[in-house]
Amino acid sequence: MHNDQAKKLREMMSRPNSRSRDVQPPAPVRTTKTIAVCSGKGGVGKSNIALNLSITLSGAGNRVALVDADMGMANLDVLLNVDIKGDLSHVVAGTKRLEDIVVDLPNGVQFVAGASGLARLANLSEFQRTRLTEELSQLEADNDLIVIDCGAGIGPDVLQFASGADIVLVVTTPEPTAITDAYGMIKALAKRGYVGSLSVLTNQVDNRQEGRATYQRLAEVARRFLDIRVFDAGYIDEDPRVRQAVRRRQAFVLAYPKCPASRAIGALVNKLSPGGALVRQKEGFFRRMARLFA
Ligand SMILES: Nc1ncnc2c1ncn2[C@@H]1O[C@H](COP(=O)(O)OP(=O)(O)O)[C@@H](O)[C@H]1O
Ligand SMILES: [Mg+2]
Repeated sequence: MHNDQAKKLREMMSRPNSRSRDVQPPAPVRTTKTIAVCSGKGGVGKSNIALNLSITLSGAGNRVALVDADMGMANLDVLLNVDIKGDLSHVVAGTKRLEDIVVDLPNGVQFVAGASGLARLANLSEFQRTRLTEELSQLEADNDLIVIDCGAGIGPDVLQFASGADIVLVVTTPEPTAITDAYGMIKALAKRGYVGSLSVLTNQVDNRQEGRATYQRLAEVARRFLDIRVFDAGYIDEDPRVRQAVRRRQAFVLAYPKCPASRAIGALVNKLSPGGALVRQKEGFFRRMARLFA
């Protein structure tokens, strides 16, 4: 460093409170965690899992936002029969701010409705994308956890959301077709150099063994062919209460807190608690996601 530069610095430091009003406090280390719920195959239970997980995490004292990022078939609002005041397409268009469209779900979950039929993220203009990113970044400032219900498959938007998340839950069922597609998802993320915690969650299992076997199969092929580690997020039983709750348009963890599926969500929350599979990353999720376009 130049001598005169060092002198200036020392002067600045010693001037009592001279610039205190414009001095920014050091940026806090980001602690908001993002959890992307995705799957290769559709209809495996992503939305139900994202919703019930959010409600349980929130009930455990976390500030939680749930984002419906299934741009093709956004339907989380239908699951709970909530009246939405707008969705992400309005935010992109600039006709609404994020705070105008956020809706309160049970347990205080902050819900952001997805935009069915919204243009692919990559097709948004630079201006629209920046607006979306900036607005969504506000969620990070206000919450401890952000759960993202992604669309099925390995389309560019899903990969965009998933690759930026701290934790990816790849939901599958024990069916061979779902397992094959789950592997496709894991492979696509691995190819993009995903650095967060990647895990498999097996839904609609008949028993514990089936859940365990599904995880082991996927973890083994991922290790052998992709040389990556996939964590075990556990399993959720095939449970008639889930369908009943869907028909009643309620969250099963609230309608039937003691049912096997609700207990399974409780076990998942334990795995996601500090000391579990959570990964620390400093840069904000939505900014990181936007940067991935570059
Ligand atoms: N653990 C489960 N037990 C019984 N039925 C389930 C379970 N998980 C999901 N389902 C059924 O599957 C349907 C599709 O689930 P959904 O969450 O909408 O899937 P996705 O979001 O992956 O398309 C639900 O409406 C429900 O009837
Ligand atoms: Mg869904």
